[in-house]
Amino acid sequence: MRRRLLLVVLAPILFLGACTDERQDVWSPEGEFTEKIDGIQWGVFAAAYAVGLLVAVAFVFIVIRYRVRKRKGPDGEEEEVERPDPVQVHGNFRLEIAWTVIPAAILAAVALFSVPAIFAIRGAQASDDQDFSVTVFGQQWWWAYEYNLDDDPEPEIITANDLVIPAGHDIELALESRDVVHSFWVPALAGTLDVVPGRTHDLLIEAAEPGVYDSQCKEYCGLAHAYMRARVVALSDSEFATWLDQQQEGWQEPDDPEALAGRDVFVSRCAQCHVINGLQDADGNEVELDVDAMPLLSKHAPNLTHLMSRGVFASGLLPLYDEDGNLNRPDLEQWLRNPSSLVPQRPDNEQGMPDLGLTEGEIDQLVAFLQTLGEPPPGAGG
Ligand code: CUA
Repeated sequence: MRRRLLLVVLAPILFLGACTDERQDVWSPEGEFTEKIDGIQWGVFAAAYAVGLLVAVAFVFIVIRYRVRKRKGPDGEEEEVERPDPVQVHGNFRLEIAWTVIPAAILAAVALFSVPAIFAIRGAQASDDQDFSVTVFGQQWWWAYEYNLDDDPEPEIITANDLVIPAGHDIELALESRDVVHSFWVPALAGTLDVVPGRTHDLLIEAAEPGVYDSQCKEYCGLAHAYMRARVVALSDSEFATWLDQQQEGWQEPDDPEALAGRDVFVSRCAQCHVINGLQDADGNEVELDVDAMPLLSKHAPNLTHLMSRGVFASGLLPLYDEDGNLNRPDLEQWLRNPSSLVPQRPDNEQGMPDLGLTEGEIDQLVAFLQTLGEPPPGAGG
């Protein structure tokens, strides 16, 4: 009995102990929209806790007070204490009015705070004076971002995993899915919204300060759902302007012979799925993507033109650089060698990164080539 009680006490503590990732903490808002949400969730949680506590205390009291009791009978045997049936209150008008009016009053009080916040957030969305808009695509199991900077329908920048935005600006995200339902969630910057195939859902985010904010897909979407992470990287205005310029540059042929050998491996093994803008093969022909021949259901793999400008790879799960700013070569090599050893992948190769059976020599050449793709973020790239 005592051991079971210990378990009951310890289980919630252990459970809460798992919630130590403060970068995905809903109680640490870092932008104007999450500030608004934070302002109401304290009141809502307080009301919910008060009601929950009241119910729990009443429950424990009733269980103890009205439990079946035993006593010693005149013949020395234990027998149950006789107890009359409780008063039957079914159909009691006053009680039914009370337990209808009290919850309605609590909900009305909650609405007093939450409805204005919802209108403020939706109002900012409808106002059309967002500073910037990005189309976000969820797919199994990573996020792609497309930046359309002019009037023609083709996006100028296509990137993945790291969603780069300017800090201090309202950014409108148009959320779309290329396969199943996902849910986009950056707890520090915005509420969460489902990403549904065939629909576009708009979500406003804003980061008050430059920084990196973690994101996790929040709707079960298959094998690697738990690994489907991402980051929002908020830059200062000038850093963001530089980033925009750099991202629009096409591929530059490297001088390093090993990187050039890696280019040839890339063209023959990786270019069926991955795009590098302006990539040319050894004969100087531009490498075109044959979408029909692509095994992937979503018909999209991360665009790698500026791979090195990102902080993460493999669904945003693995850092591209270590703490000293050096390339995370062991994980990058392992990702090329055996991706499913790091993130579960579909064995039929219809989604996710396939195992290409590359030799160690090819892996070294590919890493040398990948390292030439794009500018490393500030403080990295040793
Ligand atoms: Cu995407 Cu869960």
